[in-house]
Amino acid sequence: MSAKTDKLLSILRLQPVVPVLVIDDVATAVPLARALVAGGLRAIEITLRTPAALEAIRAVANEVEGAVAGAGTILNAAQFEAAVEAGSRFIVSPGTTQELIDVANDHDAPLLPGAATASEVMGLREEGYDVMKFFPAEQAGGAAYLKSLSSPLAGTFFCPTGGISLSNARDYLSLPNVVCVGGSWVAPKDLVAKGDWAGITKLAAEAFALKG
Ligand code: 3PG
Repeated sequence: MSAKTDKLLSILRLQPVVPVLVIDDVATAVPLARALVAGGLRAIEITLRTPAALEAIRAVANEVEGAVAGAGTILNAAQFEAAVEAGSRFIVSPGTTQELIDVANDHDAPLLPGAATASEVMGLREEGYDVMKFFPAEQAGGAAYLKSLSSPLAGTFFCPTGGISLSNARDYLSLPNVVCVGGSWVAPKDLVAKGDWAGITKLAAEAFALKG
C-alpha cells in the first residue's frame, strides 16, 4: 500500500462514520465541527455544493482543534486544488475521472474516489487505488451488493455513502471490505439551523459508538 493510502486509511479509521456536511452559512461551520469532534467524529467532509464550502473548510481547518477537515463532491481539478488550498487534508469525489486522478497524483492530500461497479473498482485498482467511496451505497445495491464484491475484489476497501443512517450503518461496518461509512444524518439541517450543537454532539457520539 502506498504512503498516500496509509494516510487516507489513518484518517478514515479515526471513526466509524465520516459526517458529510452541506454548509449554507459559513458561520455554522466552526460550532458544527466542534460539536462533531466533541462526539468523537474528527474527520469531517465538507461538500463543495454551496458557495460557503471553501470558507467553511478553511475555518474548520484553522480553528477546530482535533478536526481533520476534508472536502467532498470534488468533481474536477480546479475544485481539488481550491479545496487543498483551503486546508483539506483529504478529498472525496462521488465518481472518478482521469482529470481527478491526474490532479490527485500532483498533491499530497489523498483522494477517496467514488466507484459503484466492479469495472469502476477495477479501473481504480489499475491506477493504484485500494480505498474507494462506494456511492450511492443504498441506491446502488446496499450492503449485500458491497459484500458480493469482497471476494472477487479482495484487497479493496470502501467507505460507503448515500442513504446510510444509524439504523443500517452496522450492516456495512460489519463487512470485511468496509473501513467506515459516510453520512449526513449526524448533522441534520434543522439542528444546524437551530444551533442545537448539543443535539449534534449526541448524534455524533451515537455514531462513534458504532465502532468496534
Ligand atoms: C452525499 O454525498 O450526499 C453523501 O452520499 C451523503 O448521503 P446521505 O445524505 O444519504 O447521507
